[in-house]
Amino acid sequence: MQIIRSVAELTQYVAARKNQHQTIGFVPTMGALHEGHLSLVERAVGENECSIVSVFVNPTQFNNPDDLRTYPRTEEADIELLAKAGVSAVFVPSVGEMYPEEVEVKKDFNLGSAAEVMEGKFRPGHFQGVAQVVNRLFELVRPNRAYFGQKDFQQIAVIRNMVESEGIDVEIIDCPIKRADDGLALSSRNALLSADQRRRAPEIYAALSDSVEYSKSHSVRATHDSVVERLDAIPEMKVEYFEIVDARTLLPIEEWDESPDVQGCITVFNGKVRLIDNICYRPF
Ligand code: PAJ
Repeated sequence: MQIIRSVAELTQYVAARKNQHQTIGFVPTMGALHEGHLSLVERAVGENECSIVSVFVNPTQFNNPDDLRTYPRTEEADIELLAKAGVSAVFVPSVGEMYPEEVEVKKDFNLGSAAEVMEGKFRPGHFQGVAQVVNRLFELVRPNRAYFGQKDFQQIAVIRNMVESEGIDVEIIDCPIKRADDGLALSSRNALLSADQRRRAPEIYAALSDSVEYSKSHSVRATHDSVVERLDAIPEMKVEYFEIVDARTLLPIEEWDESPDVQGCITVFNGKVRLIDNICYRPF
C-alpha cells in the first residue's frame, strides 16, 4: 500500500492509474478507523481496480473547537488496518496540504434544503465544511465510485446534492450501518465514552428499534415522544434532536402515510460525547 502525504504525489499517483484505465474506488474518512469504516473499504477494494482511502480530520467541518481537539487520532493503527484490507493507497494530508494559503479552496456550495435541517441546524457550517473537503478530495482523487455510510444519513443526501450541483461524474454508493453486538452504531467518538456511558449507549439503538414496532400502532408524534422520553430518562443522556422525516427531502412528516420512505434521525449527548444514529420506519 502506498502512503501518500502530498497533493503533488496524489495527483501523480491518480494520473498513473487513469493512464492504465483503472477504475478508482474512494473512501473518505477522518481516521480512528473501526469496522464501520472497514465495511466501506472492503467494498471499495472489491469493486475497483484501484482503491484509495483518505484519513484527514477536516477542521472546516467542526463547529465546536473542543470536538476538533478531542477527536481521536490513531494514524499508525489506521494505516496498518488499511494495508491489511488490501487498499491500494492511503492519502494522509496535513491541514496545510489540504488548505494551502496560496490556493483558494472552493466553499459556499449549493446543498439544498437537506443541509438546513437537523445536523445543519445544530452544527452551523458543518455541511459546508463537509462539502468543501469532499469536493476537494474528489478533484484530487477523481474517483469512479465513492463510498459513504448510512450512519451519517443526512451527509449522504447533502453529498449527493453537492455532486449534482457541481456536476461531478462520480457514483455515490451508500453502505449499511455497522453496529457493535449490543446494537450501538460504531463510531470513532465511542472511544471517548466512559465505561458507564458505554454501558448505557446501546439504549439509543434499543429505543429506535423498539419504536419501529410501536410506530405500527401509534402516531408519528407519539412514536417520537416515546423515544425522547425513554432516552432522556437515562443518566447522562440528553436527546439533542429526534426527527421523523421523509428519507429523501429530510423534512419532518406528521402522518405515516405522508411518505413512502420514512427515517428517524437522532442525536444524543451521552455525557459530553455527541452520538448520532438513525433507523428506517417505512417501508418495513
Ligand atoms: P468519518 O466519521 O470518519 O466517517 C467516514 C465514513 O465512514 C462516512 O461515510 C461514515 O458514514 C462511515 N461510517 C462511520 N461509522 C459507520 C458505521 N458504523 N457503519 C457504516 N459506515 C460508517 O464522515 C466523515 O468521516 C467525514 O464527514 C468525511 C466524509 C470523511 C468528510 O470529512
